[in-house]
Amino acid sequence: MKLNIAIDGPSAAGKSTIARRLARECDYIHLDTGAMYRCIAYKALNQGVALDDEAALGSLIDQTEIRLTPQGQVFLDGEEMKDKIRSDAVSMAASQVSSWKIVRQKLVERQQKMARDKGVVMDGRDIGTVVLPDAEIKIFLTASPQARAQRRFLENQQKGISSDYQQLVAEIAQRDKQDTERVNSPLRQAEDAVGIDTSEMTIDEVVAAIQRLVEEKM
Ligand code: C5P
Repeated sequence: MKLNIAIDGPSAAGKSTIARRLARECDYIHLDTGAMYRCIAYKALNQGVALDDEAALGSLIDQTEIRLTPQGQVFLDGEEMKDKIRSDAVSMAASQVSSWKIVRQKLVERQQKMARDKGVVMDGRDIGTVVLPDAEIKIFLTASPQARAQRRFLENQQKGISSDYQQLVAEIAQRDKQDTERVNSPLRQAEDAVGIDTSEMTIDEVVAAIQRLVEEKM
């Protein structure tokens, strides 16, 4: 029997890393919904589509193919994105485009189709509340803003991207504000989600804790 696992939480709380590992352990497919918002933001920035033009963003999505592979690759209109969608500029733009109702409707519809056959670990902001309200397992991952900025800082360092720690703290705080205060599907913990604060936990510990929940459901 396969389940769907929804993982939500603020930016840089470790959702993607945890979801990827968990999917590997369970032989499930990992779907990173943030990558989809990032692709739309990236394309809008490149094509000069205004980030506050909801209708234009809607038609942009209609003309966009996003493919997420089980190996974790992200293809935008056939081109592999890799780190192109991971810059701070794209992060901020993704947070902006994701505030629009049309953008959310169109991407949520695609996400629901991807999870139809179960066996999916999906991470994002609204998975447990909107995309997969019937997911058998719902996790809400959090960590202090300092712990999240520190992780992003180290991640950037490993990729050879230089970043300023204080600026990362400020950007994380701004994205938190945008994501939690927006009118459409704001970031919030689903009532039936299990909250895990990862500030003081290793990746292995978090994955093991979620695996125990999966086993209890089987
Ligand atoms: O998870 P990630 O940081 O890659 O997501 C980028 C942005 O996309 C987030 O800041 C958030 O605004 C948006 N997002 C969203 N709903 C999701 C996933 C991401 O609004 N399910």
